[in-house]
Amino acid sequence: MRKKIVAGNWKMNMTFDEGQKLTSEIVNMYKDEAIQDVIVVLNPPFPHIHPVKKLVGDIPGIFIGAQNCSDKESGAFTGEVSAKILASFGVDYVILGHSERREYFKEGNELLATKVKQALAHGLTPIFCCGESLEIRTAGTHESNVKFQLTESLFGLSPEDFSKVVIAYEPIWAIGTGKTATADQAQEMHLALRRHIASKYGKEIANETSILYGGSANPGNAKELFSKPDVDGGLIGGASLKSRDFTDIVKSF
Ligand code: G3P
Repeated sequence: MRKKIVAGNWKMNMTFDEGQKLTSEIVNMYKDEAIQDVIVVLNPPFPHIHPVKKLVGDIPGIFIGAQNCSDKESGAFTGEVSAKILASFGVDYVILGHSERREYFKEGNELLATKVKQALAHGLTPIFCCGESLEIRTAGTHESNVKFQLTESLFGLSPEDFSKVVIAYEPIWAIGTGKTATADQAQEMHLALRRHIASKYGKEIANETSILYGGSANPGNAKELFSKPDVDGGLIGGASLKSRDFTDIVKSF
């Protein structure tokens, strides 16, 4: 059975106190509302990771993720944070290939392939992001675009390693815009990704791969999005900064 996952990408938001308040509220809602069978991942900025992890404690079903990791193992790389260090703090997941890192920090497919290997080598689960710009969608080459991103950054992995990866389809034109992809558009792209995975690794691994949708997901559209057969959850930005909204999205399956 594919894992249902809802990850909250806080991006560069939340002071210490705000992060502690948000996490406490989410944890309490998760416990009080008896949420089951959905993996919740909180992806705060790096400094929050240890205090958030302490608040979450050992609640089964809530995990901690980072928003990035270095492609390097360790050493003189000022400002970088390695997968090895993240793992030592009990981090479980790491978002890689987010469109904002591809755009603002020029992260290319080859660099991301190395980051994915670093994450896997230290026991982190990559949440690997792919997605097209509005220009590419308008041109009608959006499927080949995301397939290329997977081929270049993930298809060098062994079947065993690939089976540990979570995919997030995030159309860039939907991120932070309020212009969510329709559930049918999400289903179309998730199915195309799953078929692409099957072409490389076979149907069994493809069918077991969780593919999340990201891009202006909110409590009003999550239920329809998650109702689609190839949508296995969400990677949530803005709505993850509000505990009620984020929890309502988690409960949308
Ligand atoms: O990583 C998730 C993020 O890119 C989506 O952002 O604010 O459109 O939910 P948002």
